[in-house]
Amino acid sequence: MNPDLERLHPYPFEKLKTLFSGLPQSDKSPIALSIGEPKHPSPDFVQQVLKDSTARLANYPTTAGIPELSEAIGQWLKRRFHLQDIDPASQVLPVNGTREALFSFTQAVVDRQRQPLVLMPNPFYQIYEGATLLAGGEPMYLPCTDATGLQPDFDAVSEDTWTRTQLLFICTPGNPTGATLSKAQLKALIQLADKYDFVIASDECYSEIYRDTPPT
Ligand SMILES: Cc1ncc(COP(=O)(O)O)c(C=O)c1O
Repeated sequence: MNPDLERLHPYPFEKLKTLFSGLPQSDKSPIALSIGEPKHPSPDFVQQVLKDSTARLANYPTTAGIPELSEAIGQWLKRRFHLQDIDPASQVLPVNGTREALFSFTQAVVDRQRQPLVLMPNPFYQIYEGATLLAGGEPMYLPCTDATGLQPDFDAVSEDTWTRTQLLFICTPGNPTGATLSKAQLKALIQLADKYDFVIASDECYSEIYRDTPPT
């Protein structure tokens, strides 16, 4: 067995289940705010497309997915984030869930021979840590507190730490606080990544949940 499995911590939902087990019975039905499962029906047009596509279930999907999907994702990136020169064939890889992608990406990026540090916000989405441990990396947790604006204080990271950093996870809007990183902060991080030669994994899975104007 991979000895790094011993380094993994229990998934938070397991911990939550244990905490719930001692609760007194109630006649009220709880509002589950735990796993984040949708509470609204899937849109009709999505269900329709799925129904219309069942004949294709017999085909093995390719890893790259269908070109039309990559093309549509590329177009969306341009519309939503005003990106230019997106090449869907080489820069877009559709995945079934970002958790699996975050895990696999970390295995590909981290070189365990060089005492790798992987930086991540704290609190964090647990796969950042699990993927780091199984890739042979050392997680370094950057506190997100009121005092730091609920995102990490990157100015507080030492030069020694940046030198050993191979991967930086950022989450904007952040889970669980929703705090975003500004454009200036993102630019500064890209400059640091260039200077110290590390990769940024920017988890933006909540970018489409906002009140008035989309976070940029
Ligand atoms: C910050 C963050 N990233 C990634 C994920 C993974 O989402 P999925 O695997 O459903 O794409 C979640 C799910 O809760 C999350 O909170």
